[in-house]
Amino acid sequence: MRNVVRCHQFLGSRTRPRQWSVINLHCSNSWFQHHPWLGSRTAILTRGAKSKTTVKLEDLPQGALEPLPATAEKEDQGPTYPTVVRQARNNMRKFDNCVVLTRVGSFYELYFEHATEYGPLLSLKVAQKRSKAGVPSVPMAGFPFFQLDRFLKILVQDLSKYVAISEEFVNDPANKVKSGGLMFDRRVTRIVTPGTLIDEKFMDPDENNFLLAVQPLGSVHVPRTSDDQPEELKSGATESALNSLRVGLAWLDLSTGDFFTQSSTLGTLPSAFARIGAKEVILSDGLSQSVQQTISGLVDHDRRLLTYHAAKYAELPISAWAPMLESPVASADEAAFTTEETSAGSMLLTYVVHKLQGLDIKLQPPQRRRDFEIMAIDKTSLRALEVLATSKEGITGGKGSLLHTVRRTVTRGGSRLLKDWISSPSASLSVINERLDLVSMLLHDAELREEICRDLRRSSDCQRLVQRFSLGRGDADDLISLLKTIETTDSIANVLEKATSSQRPGKAGLEVRRPLRRLSCRLSLENPRALALRISSAIDEEGLLKNHRKEESESARYISAAHDVLHSEGSAADFDDMPRAVRDNGVQQSLSEQEIDEEDDWIMRRSASPVLQGLHDDLSKLRQQREQLTVMLRNRIGAQSLSLRYVAGSGHVCHVRGAKDVRHTSKATLGGRSGRSTKSTRTFYNSDWTDLGTKMDMIRFQIRAEEQQVLQELREQVVANLVRLRRNAAVLDELDIGCAFANLADEQGFTRPVLNESRNHQIIGGRHPTVKIGLEEGGKAFVKNDCIVGGKERVWLITGPNMGGKSTFLRQNALISILAQAGCFVPAEYAELGIVDQIFSRVGSADDLFREQSTFMVEMLETAVILRQATSRSFVIMDEIGRGTTPEDGVAMAFACLHHLHHHNQCRTLFATHFHVLADLAKDFDRLACYCADVAEGTDGSFSYVHRLRRGVNRASHALKVARLAGIPEVAIRVAEDVLAKHDPTPAPGCQIGPCRGSDSSDPKAAR
Ligand SMILES: Nc1ncnc2c1ncn2[C@@H]1O[C@H](COP(=O)(O)OP(=O)(O)OP(=O)(O)O)[C@@H](O)[C@H]1O
Ligand SMILES: [Mg+2]
Repeated sequence: MRNVVRCHQFLGSRTRPRQWSVINLHCSNSWFQHHPWLGSRTAILTRGAKSKTTVKLEDLPQGALEPLPATAEKEDQGPTYPTVVRQARNNMRKFDNCVVLTRVGSFYELYFEHATEYGPLLSLKVAQKRSKAGVPSVPMAGFPFFQLDRFLKILVQDLSKYVAISEEFVNDPANKVKSGGLMFDRRVTRIVTPGTLIDEKFMDPDENNFLLAVQPLGSVHVPRTSDDQPEELKSGATESALNSLRVGLAWLDLSTGDFFTQSSTLGTLPSAFARIGAKEVILSDGLSQSVQQTISGLVDHDRRLLTYHAAKYAELPISAWAPMLESPVASADEAAFTTEETSAGSMLLTYVVHKLQGLDIKLQPPQRRRDFEIMAIDKTSLRALEVLATSKEGITGGKGSLLHTVRRTVTRGGSRLLKDWISSPSASLSVINERLDLVSMLLHDAELREEICRDLRRSSDCQRLVQRFSLGRGDADDLISLLKTIETTDSIANVLEKATSSQRPGKAGLEVRRPLRRLSCRLSLENPRALALRISSAIDEEGLLKNHRKEESESARYISAAHDVLHSEGSAADFDDMPRAVRDNGVQQSLSEQEIDEEDDWIMRRSASPVLQGLHDDLSKLRQQREQLTVMLRNRIGAQSLSLRYVAGSGHVCHVRGAKDVRHTSKATLGGRSGRSTKSTRTFYNSDWTDLGTKMDMIRFQIRAEEQQVLQELREQVVANLVRLRRNAAVLDELDIGCAFANLADEQGFTRPVLNESRNHQIIGGRHPTVKIGLEEGGKAFVKNDCIVGGKERVWLITGPNMGGKSTFLRQNALISILAQAGCFVPAEYAELGIVDQIFSRVGSADDLFREQSTFMVEMLETAVILRQATSRSFVIMDEIGRGTTPEDGVAMAFACLHHLHHHNQCRTLFATHFHVLADLAKDFDRLACYCADVAEGTDGSFSYVHRLRRGVNRASHALKVARLAGIPEVAIRVAEDVLAKHDPTPAPGCQIGPCRGSDSSDPKAAR
């Protein structure tokens, strides 16, 4: 309904929502011709009375005529299409990379090639619009206004198109004359792209909708000719030179106002893309070809939408960002922004300003992300560890991902922040400990946790809510939601206050409560409380509700034609998009026949402003006069059913009902004209009522205008409180995550990790957070494992049978580090972890034939990144490196990697392999230890996997057992057994638990 309400704001005449449809009906006799796809059933809506345009002399343009704009001549060329079509065509020319949706009455329409191309994709019927003879017909397709979100989703989200929305504006008298009597002007008010969504219903509430600008340093004005390229990028430039090119990143979410910048390199761009997960990437159009190709290749590969933006926009200073920020960047902070960050930020903001076509925005001041502050999880690891999505489904937050497993947040904002924390864990000891302190505190106070969660559940998505106001969009409903959120915040502040006071009995001491105090100190409630008071004293919630019901039922009537069509041709989804009243009531009378209810429902309380109070008093007096007039007329003509009404299309009429009264008054028109009559009703006009009714309409008009004024004042007050409201919302988000992590720890028995600055990783009784849950759901138990890498045993070489749990072990340790640094408790009995700067994981094999990369090539590319980038603070897991080629080459490469990691990178490494010879080759590595998993075989041929790791090397893979379990035909298994027997004649001992065939319980280093 928001669209309808907004439209009323443009329409100057009777501002009651119901009148909006009347105006549209009257605007054109040929309205029906605009919507040929509706078919003949809709004719009832098209027969509005022809409007008469009256313009005062002083409103006519005076003096010499202004010259027409230069484009006018061009625009008028071609066939003389109807004005709406011409307006649409001009917009199609002007916004030539967009699909143009033109609002006509209660429909959005597509014309010309847009109709033929997108109509079928949107499952819309494409009709031919005919006008006068000699003018070619125009293909057109359309949908009712209330389905805008649904079609935007298909165009913007599914088809990655840019959509220009052209809205209707009532022409003022002067423009009306200029345009040859046109009631409406149509202007593009917004360009919607995947990265510039604001509050569309189809946006994922649990995920940020980021738009990301990428700006390489020093390449802005590089012409495309190779001669002028900088030396290092000329044809002989190496890939490493490209990789180390500095790149500025700036990204924002228009729906929340979040705004970030970061200085990075071209080489780490894939990881940044994966972490930020932008819906659209913008790039300057003046880059050297090699840089442009590299970046566009990465964007393509990630299946994101890439948009080019003029290079000149990357040159604004930070001070020029101020109008778009809720508070300017402090001049002391300005210096911290690198040139590339400033360029990226400028490009980003100018792009947004253009897409919003003048709509005001207020973003949060940009936060700088610095590499050393966060644990970097490169793109491959993010995917391999299934941090955000499972590799199979690829849906963010999908079942089986780490995010899904740990998510217990109860608010939208909390969910978005959680995604950020999990994909960009902190690398700062103090930040991590602050988060962990909060979780500890909440874990020990279940009652407090429950109290906070109860309040949080009642709050709205405050970040998105206030952002709507910052974009000038918030309406009365949003104000009510905001009011509730402020009340909730207030209530949470009280809960925190009580919890941190020494009065609270029994529970932990004040010291423990410090994290709560820190949060409660960040809440700023004084002004928001005053705002809440103002909202509740101004907005009449009951009136608002009644208003909605009315609007819905009026829209319902107005679009009953569309309903007809949908019933015969539409799908269930079409029907769901309808306003509730249509769904519930079905087709109703046409509006012109519907008598308009006399009850006034106002969205503001009378006391909202002195002007409003005065106007309502005047209206009450006029209402009294109407009652007196009613009594007087009833008595005069002797018809007790007489009532004084306003009927759309007829105006102010006296109305009688019942055969007796109709007969009785057939001659008594009291000097006025007769109106419509049926057997049971009759209307006629009375000049006293017409005068009084007109006066009442005037007052109603003024009340509406004053209500809009009060609404505007309230909006301004919200904007004035923007910073406080956003800060409060940020506190609630963090509190939500604190409670969520505490609930998770409680439920899953997670423990608080001890973080330090060492290079050690000590986990006792660790579990894989998602595999464990999966196994338990299937009634199986997960075997815990210890992992103590770092110090003397920096590299663990892990061998063992297929299905032995090697990969699970590798991943669980990486995930435990991620969780710990996100500030979450971990699935282990004890965890003491040195802070990790980067996590790398090389697991699984896949080819990327699209990018001309074979399986082994992909494996080597990923490995190259690790060997080049891992530092002594990094944590690396390598799973079966070298298996994509011949065993000899594979062993050689695997050993080389092991050697490099051990001697050069010197990072904590878990290295799983089936190349047992590596244990022998690496026996001189002083910081390497061997561990293995086992198979336990029974005398009857049965076996089971021993998932507990032990020191030593297990040279048996037991691959054939897995093959048999997988259903490989028995004949084939026997062939395999024969081959194995020839190549490895060692008989398999029927051992129970412990060293098996080829198993070596000792560390090869022991033989040194
Ligand atoms: N610690 C554990 N406790 C119980 N079950 C486990 C454990 N670790 C792994 N598993 C089970 O074993 C399965 C195989 O584990 P995983 O893939 O880690 O084996 P693997 O040793 O890497 O095998 P391969 O050598 O074939 O890659 C898992 O899907 C899980 O069901
Ligand atoms: Mg494995």
